[in-house]
Amino acid sequence: MTKRLIVNVFEMNTPGHITHGLWRLPGNQRDRYSSIEYWTELARIAEAGGFDAVFLADVVGAYDVYDDDFAPAVQRGLQIPNNDPMLVIPAMAAVTEHLGFGVTFSTTYEPPFAFARRMSTLDHLTDGRVGWNIVTSYLPNAARNFGLAEQIPHDERYRIAEEYLDVLYKLWEGSWDDDAIEVDREGDRYADPAKVRRIDHEGEFFRVAGPHLSEPSRQRTPVLFQASASKAGTAFAAKHAEVLFTADRPAGALERNIAAIREAAVEAGRRADDTRYLVMATVIVGRTEAEAREKYEHYRAFRDAEGSFVHMSVPFHPLEHDPSITIREALVAEGRHDVIAEGGLPLELTVGAFRAGVDEAWDARFLAVGTPEQVADTIERWLDEDGIDGINLRQYHSYDTIRDFGELVTPELRRRGRMREAYVPGETLRERIFGEGARLPERHPAARYRGGANLREPAAAAAGRGE
Ligand SMILES: Cc1cc2nc3c(=O)[nH]c(=O)nc-3n(C[C@H](O)[C@H](O)[C@H](O)COP(=O)(O)O)c2cc1C
Repeated sequence: MTKRLIVNVFEMNTPGHITHGLWRLPGNQRDRYSSIEYWTELARIAEAGGFDAVFLADVVGAYDVYDDDFAPAVQRGLQIPNNDPMLVIPAMAAVTEHLGFGVTFSTTYEPPFAFARRMSTLDHLTDGRVGWNIVTSYLPNAARNFGLAEQIPHDERYRIAEEYLDVLYKLWEGSWDDDAIEVDREGDRYADPAKVRRIDHEGEFFRVAGPHLSEPSRQRTPVLFQASASKAGTAFAAKHAEVLFTADRPAGALERNIAAIREAAVEAGRRADDTRYLVMATVIVGRTEAEAREKYEHYRAFRDAEGSFVHMSVPFHPLEHDPSITIREALVAEGRHDVIAEGGLPLELTVGAFRAGVDEAWDARFLAVGTPEQVADTIERWLDEDGIDGINLRQYHSYDTIRDFGELVTPELRRRGRMREAYVPGETLRERIFGEGARLPERHPAARYRGGANLREPAAAAAGRGE
């Protein structure tokens, strides 16, 4: 069977998400990110172009490692200013019928009860078109914004996330029965209290009584997205995530990651095809190859190399050193003996090689530039040879990138059976991605709380049984 492409617009509620410097392009609308019209227009263009979803990244702190200051990030609008991603979804949902929405929220800083209600609300308002990108947050500044002196260690964040999801599953799946809502005017019963229950969660990190405040929504649990690279993150993803972002570097990592996660998912009692794999991709298309190349070069000319170092939290100034010296020598010159001691950087690499690597990473492996036929050929190779299921489309120019894709690439992919001719009315995001039900399958760990089952049993006991 021909594999169809999942295609999302990669967004963030900020001027500069991942294509640093490009907000300055003539006609780029990114500086309108704080107006509601920016989002409604984006959503309309995305739906007209057949996109599956708008996927919103988020961070809850400023990038302040480079230069030991947030100034370089603020100056370039690099993920700051940065508004709340959840709040633009209802606006986009109101002007579309089919478009899905993925939103990033961290399990590290805000407790689960209020978040469960907000996501249920979004699932109601979008009629089942919402997904959640589970992150544990990597910015040191974020920790300091939420009352901590420093970041919680990486693997500990995933332990917290594990319990966080357990609480959410109890609220989303176990607290209300499907038929709890009656709306019986004569009988004076809005809902049946016998079909609504507390969860009485008492864990290591959270205590939540419940009941969940929202009635069941179409999907109950939103579609679960996650990106991970580490051992702890991958184990977590294998258990919980439905749609995964996988890193494509170093070479061969993508294939290895996909195979490892599928295998671990099966070990966790799920099926190999319960997961889908997305990569971030760049698609620049023109009516002729020359037009596409010209557009690409024009975009590249606006690129801000230093922005990449700010985004990567590089703790020195690669552009200020002779490229032939090593990173160690550069750090010594900047008096950063603390960074040398931490040992996180490839200290013997030359500064020039480091810069070249970052430059190359800007386009990354999933780059297609050319005519609609040429980029469609490339995308088909990604699907069939690299084994991915879809892309988060990086925007170089808002809205040209998505308009070009919708007008030129979508028709070509439809001709090849790689995208559907039309949306299926009333379909939830989960149904669109997996072609099965609106709810998580029975073999997913969330399902164990359905109908109020297992609510009192500590999650640790379930984990001990390998559930
Ligand atoms: C495509 C992609 C998008 C991501 N989006 C976010 C994001 O919006 N917010 C965030 O805090 N982390 C984001 N991350 C980082 C991941 O959540 C994760 O921390 C990272 O992939 C490292 O994996 P690990 O947590 O297993 O170490 C993203 C990663 C990738 C690859």
